[in-house]
Parts: sequence; structure tokens; C-alpha cells
Amino acid sequence: MKRIAVLTSGGDAPGMNAAIRAVVRTGLDAGMDVFGVRKGYAGLIEGDIFYLSRRDVGGVMHLGGTFLGSARCQEFYTEEGRRLAIANLEKQGIEALVVIGGNGSQTGSHALWKMGYPVVGVASTIDNDLEGTDVTIGVDTAINVALEAIDRLKVTATSHRRAFLVETMGRKCGYVALMAGIAGGAEVVVIPERELAPEEVARELRAAYDRGKSHALVVVAEGARNNARKLIKHFEEHSEAVGFSLRVTILGHVQRGAAPTAADRLLATWLGEGAVRALLRGEQGVLVGMRGNHVVTTPLDEIVGRQKPIDLSLFELARIMAQ
Ligand code: F6P
Repeated sequence: MKRIAVLTSGGDAPGMNAAIRAVVRTGLDAGMDVFGVRKGYAGLIEGDIFYLSRRDVGGVMHLGGTFLGSARCQEFYTEEGRRLAIANLEKQGIEALVVIGGNGSQTGSHALWKMGYPVVGVASTIDNDLEGTDVTIGVDTAINVALEAIDRLKVTATSHRRAFLVETMGRKCGYVALMAGIAGGAEVVVIPERELAPEEVARELRAAYDRGKSHALVVVAEGARNNARKLIKHFEEHSEAVGFSLRVTILGHVQRGAAPTAADRLLATWLGEGAVRALLRGEQGVLVGMRGNHVVTTPLDEIVGRQKPIDLSLFELARIMAQ
């Protein structure tokens, strides 16, 4: 295999640049030409494909986002869109594509693979909801951003004896909220995998207040049925049930824009290298991820359309630590 391309797709995740760099430098080291695609699948359909040199990926590793750009592309859901994409790759003699992205993006790579085009996926999303990997590129940074916010909010909360609702991203997956909640010492964690009614949250907050706590933190995943907006609406009408006065912080895209942590840069480097090595071994239609301390590949057939479940014993740990 002599010519490959790489793109980033879906929500950007800190560490994507390091993954692109790893694909490019591993490919060049193996004697390949490596091409970048701008704006994810949208750029593939437009034919926005260009040669990447070693120097093009210099000085990008410490930056969040993706210098190739990313997009959520409706046209790629159509077979016609994907045919155009394949034609553009073939026009440039490109023999395989590395797709760095999360669930939606790997559904796209799977669809390309099913049409006969060689692809390898690299697990990258702040949500950490992909099967086939213990951890995805970007989630460590996203948790750390949430943690920094939680630490700061705790300071101001203590000054005023307040409780804060902090909402994290994560789509339908509560992993980021749960991990940030444990690391940040949250009093309550609300996630889609373990929904809590507003009354239950209020009970926990009231109990913390009655135990004499000077602050309380509720970490809420955006995908929870009772997300921060719904909870605050409920508590505005039932403030007496809580004890603390309440404030809300929704972190949103702040979690995506940070410089990648060392863990994310290393993971991205290993998985980017792993993608090229997989292609060199002749593997295609697989996702490159990390299991234990090993870079592994899993057939895309086995991961698409599924959400990795979270370990609910961690929810119990969060509860115990909150006492
Ligand atoms: O999948 C990554 C993610 O950041 C989710 O956590 C979030 O729900 C979504 O993307 C936001 O998407 P967008 O950037 O399109 O608003």
C-alpha cells in the first residue's frame, strides 16, 4: 500500500491533531504518501484532498481541535454521497482511508467499507462511548476540563454555602459526568444509565446540607432525562427541599476546546500509528482502539450502532464517596 488519506470527523476531540501527526509520520516512515482531507466527509465529497508532509504536522500536537477541520455531513448518509467520496479518493490513487472520529463517524467508515473501500477507524470522541476500546482520544482532556471547573465551583460554592449543578457533555453516555464526579468529589451524579428523579437529587442535597456540608456539587450528564435545565426548573419551584441555594454551570463545548492532556496525546499517537500498522498488515474494516495497555483492532461490523456500556459499579463508588 503506497497512498493513504486521513480525515477527522464528527465532534472534534482534543488529541485529534496528535493522531493525524502519528498517521502521517508512520505512513511516511513506511514509504507511503499520506494525504489529508479537509472538513471530514464533506471534504471527501468535495474532493478537498491534499498531500501532507512531515513538516505539515509539526507544531500541532499540543493544540486542541483538528487542523484538518471536521464536519457532520448529511450527504455522506446517502449512497450517492459515498460514491462521490470513493471516486475522489480513487482519482488521486489513494488506496485506503483512516477515519479519526466517534460513533457517527465510524458508522460512515463502516458504510464506505461495505461499499468495498478499504478503511481503518481510529477511536476518537470525548464521549468515550465507542465499543472496541477502553478509552477514546479526547475523553481524558474532557474529564480534566470538567474537573477544573468543578474544583473552581467548589471554591465559590463554599464561600456562599451553595450547591452547583454542573452539566457535562457526553451525548447519551454518562461516562464523562461519572468520572468527573468521582474525581471531583461530587455529592450527586446524574447520568442516563442511572437516572435520578429531581426529588431524589433534592433528598441527597438536603442530606448533605443537614450533615453540615459547606457546599454540594451535582454533576449531570447532558444526556440524562433530568438534565441541568430540567433540574433547576424543578428546584426553583421546590427550593426548600434542597437547603442550599443553587446555581447552574453548563460546560458544553468548553470541554472540547482544551489542549490535549499527555494521556490523550500518547493515546492518539499509539492509535494513529496503530491504524497505519493495521493497513500494512492488510487489515481493513476495523477500528483501532486500546484494551488494557494494548493497541487492538475490532471489526467495524461489531461496533457500529452500539454504545459501550459504562461500569455501573463506579456509580456506587461515587455514592459512597459522597457521604
Ligand atoms: O460527540 C461529541 C459531542 O461533543 C457530544 O458530547 C455532544 O452532545 C455533541 O458532540 C455536540 O455536538 P455539536 O458540536 O455538533 O454541537
